[in-house]
Amino acid sequence: MSVAKPIILKIGGSVITDKNGELAARTEVINRLAEETQKAGVKNLIIVHGGGSFGHPTAQKYGIKEGLKDDAQKVGFAETHHVMTVLNGLVMDALVWHSIPAFSIAPSCCLVTENGRIKICEDTILETLLNMGFVPVLYGDAVLDEKLGFTVLSGDQIVSYLARKFGAAEIVIGVDTDGLYDADPKVAKNAKLYTHLTVSELEKVKSTLGGSTAADVTGGMLGKISELVPAVEQGIPVTMVNASKPNRVYKALIGEKVEGTFIEKA
Ligand code: IPE
Repeated sequence: MSVAKPIILKIGGSVITDKNGELAARTEVINRLAEETQKAGVKNLIIVHGGGSFGHPTAQKYGIKEGLKDDAQKVGFAETHHVMTVLNGLVMDALVWHSIPAFSIAPSCCLVTENGRIKICEDTILETLLNMGFVPVLYGDAVLDEKLGFTVLSGDQIVSYLARKFGAAEIVIGVDTDGLYDADPKVAKNAKLYTHLTVSELEKVKSTLGGSTAADVTGGMLGKISELVPAVEQGIPVTMVNASKPNRVYKALIGEKVEGTFIEKA
């Protein structure tokens, strides 16, 4: 079974939640993004969202990323997955009420990692849904790991993996800044936005990209970019836009010129 080249949209946890709070969803932003997605009407779309103030604080509290060392962490593994399903429920609510045939797929039920990297992917259901015209929705999750017992799998690793597996036409990454900067734009006033980068240029500027200040167990912006590099190397372009600002995701989805950072192979 093969799939017509999908577009993969990642919505960062810092866009749909307040990363400085705990379990703090931005429902008005979630609704606007659902509206933009509906308006864009992309065929063959996969959506992946992050954890923000749902997944990260819980995962951090119980040391889920580092793996199973103590039975007391088991409730934390369960809780991390559970809070992600709660956030996913809010995203699903918005998508379905905007008449998008979105269908939630729990990554922890179809993906298994080995030392934090995806090793097993049961993708029959995802592929069938995609072929039938549904919009599969996944998220960063607490997953089983063959070596660690369990770990945290970032939405970005899922995006990069699925993009390569299905030969995606494009990856759109919605973040809470205008794109990639040569310094943290939230701290440095004169930080410069990179509008276009090739993979080799990206490798050179990687050291200037910061991590995240809020609780983030999957490595902030640097972690995000490192995950995407293999997909770009395979020829899949990445458009990074500010999903906190209206219409940026919409424009990126329909291929219209938009402010952001465009990353391609060469
Ligand atoms: C994290 O997913 C998921 C958990 C912590 C369980 P991501 O790493 O994709 O989330 P964001 O986008 O950084 O919030």
